[in-house]
Amino acid sequence: MVAWAFELAEHLLREPLPRRWVHVQGVADRARSVSVLFSTDDATLLVEAAVLHDIGYSPALALTGFHPLDGARYLREATSPERLCALVAHHSCSYLEARLRGLSKELDEWGDEETSLRDALWWADMTTTPDGERTNINDRIEEIQNRYGPTDLVTAFIAEAKPELTAAVERTEERLRAAGLAHLAK
Ligand SMILES: [Fe+2]
Repeated sequence: MVAWAFELAEHLLREPLPRRWVHVQGVADRARSVSVLFSTDDATLLVEAAVLHDIGYSPALALTGFHPLDGARYLREATSPERLCALVAHHSCSYLEARLRGLSKELDEWGDEETSLRDALWWADMTTTPDGERTNINDRIEEIQNRYGPTDLVTAFIAEAKPELTAAVERTEERLRAAGLAHLAK
């Protein structure tokens, strides 16, 4: 079902950005682990979005240098479903980074659906390390801040985004606990 998304992401990331490719596979595993929360179609969409959320980092796609936008634009060119493009465009609170980069107008070509599926995508990204391992959101954000350093725009962005990212993670974990999947929530 999602084989095309895996093939595309592997093609774009594995060689130039092997660590990013490992991260993406970890995020996809996390997304797959919460499939039970969604309909079959939505579960598929979630895993596709997880696999594709970081393709905008690929040197072949990085035109603006803002990966959610570059990824979403590429997917739109490839006539991917609109909802998938929008999930990639708006993953993990990207609208705040767009604002810092002066790219809000461009990103706003897509809307953030603000659903439980979107929350689950953010949760999967925010609870997976760059090496594809499971983590918690506080450690994840701290790692990002350390990796980019105190003066980078991404560090400013992630600090500003922390409350919204944390809320999406907590809503997802609440849904998991309600579904009897507490072991995935912590
Ligand atoms: Fe990611």
